[in-house]
Amino acid sequence: MANNKTAFAKASCMALMVCIAAALGAPFLGAMAEFTCCEIKPVIAACGSYVKTGGNNIPMECCMAVRNLRDIVRRSMHTQYLACLCLQDVVKQHHHTINTTAYENLPYSCGVALPYHFTHDMDCNIIR
Ligand SMILES: *[C@@H]1O[C@H](CO)[C@@H](O)[C@H](O)[C@H]1NC(C)=O
Repeated sequence: MANNKTAFAKASCMALMVCIAAALGAPFLGAMAEFTCCEIKPVIAACGSYVKTGGNNIPMECCMAVRNLRDIVRRSMHTQYLACLCLQDVVKQHHHTINTTAYENLPYSCGVALPYHFTHDMDCNIIR
């Protein structure tokens, strides 16, 4: 048990370091920072449990994470496309446990206008 926890802590630390490296490294690579799936992690962390249950009580930190993501994807169409792929990847992995109504209403429920129609089966290629 202790070994499993240590292994998990190491794995998430490594994942975080990759995120930080990507975030820090990007500005030096050029003017346009490439969006990585790391950037949707706060949304998953803050909205994950709500999206499974639905209901009227959206956690405030979930809406803040959605708003942050909106500000990030406003950078460019390409960023919107990459963010879409990241989201769809997570949704596909968890489609059995996700309340699709709650998921699709997330931006609206938070009062955040995302630049694309937000559905569990949206086609990211139309953004490109
Ligand atoms: C799914 O979420 C919607 C919207 O929040 C809610 O009205 C509905 O009761 C939820 N459905 C289930 C099966 O939990």
